[in-house]
Amino acid sequence: MIDIHSHIIFNIDDGAASIEESITLCRQASENGYKKIVATPHFTDYRNIDRFVLERDSKLDLIRERLAEEKIDITLYPGAELFLSRGIFTAGDLDALTINSSRYMLCEFPLGPFNVRSGLEMLSELTLRGYTPIVAHPERYHEFRRNYEIIYGLVDQGVIFQVNADCLAGNIDRTARSISAELIQEGFAKFIGSDAHDANRRNLNIRERISAFPSEIDSDDLKNCFITNPQSVIDNEDVF
Ligand SMILES: [Fe+2]
Repeated sequence: MIDIHSHIIFNIDDGAASIEESITLCRQASENGYKKIVATPHFTDYRNIDRFVLERDSKLDLIRERLAEEKIDITLYPGAELFLSRGIFTAGDLDALTINSSRYMLCEFPLGPFNVRSGLEMLSELTLRGYTPIVAHPERYHEFRRNYEIIYGLVDQGVIFQVNADCLAGNIDRTARSISAELIQEGFAKFIGSDAHDANRRNLNIRERISAFPSEIDSDDLKNCFITNPQSVIDNEDVF
C-alpha cells in the first residue's frame, strides 16, 4: 500500500513532533501493510520555496537513515500539501513541491468559508502551468459540502481528488463519510490518504479504519485508491 498524504516529517508543520514520532508513524505504517509513503508537509510560504525544500529533504534523509538502522521497510518520497493562496501567481518554480517530482501536486483549501471563484482560478493557474492538482480531503471543506456542484466543475478542469481514511471510516461526521464514499463511487476520488499527523490520534493504523469503511467500497476501490493510482502518481504516469 502507498500513502500520498502524510505529515510524518518531524518539526516542519503540525505533524510529527520529533524524529521518534516520525519513526513510530513509519513503523505503524509498515505493520499496517504500507510500503511507500509520500511526505506532504503543509506548505504556505510561496516566497521561501527553497528553504522549505531544503528542510524537508534534509529531514527526510535523517528519517531514511533511521528506518534503515531499524530495518523498517518503508520507502519515503518528497511532496507537499500546498495551501492555495494568491502566492502561487507570483511564485517561481513550483516543481520541487510536486509529489516525487511528478506533475501531481497535492493542494488544500481552508476548511471554513473561502472565495470559491478565486480558489478555482488558483487551480486553473496550476493546470495552465502543466501540473495536475490533487485536491486533498474535499469532503471536509465547508464550501464543497454546501455546493457539491463545484466538484463537477473541478473534474471538468482536470482536477482529481484524495479523500481521508478517517472521513470514510466515519471518524469525522456523517456528511464527510457519505461525500467521501460518493466521490470514490463516482470515480472522482482516486486516492485514500491517511493525512496522518501524530502517532496517537491521526495516525497510520489504517486497518482499523478500512474495517469501518462503508460496504459499497469494494476490494477494487481499495486496490485502486491504495496501490494502483498512488503508484501511477509516484511514476508520473496517467491516473485512470
Ligand atoms: Fe494534510
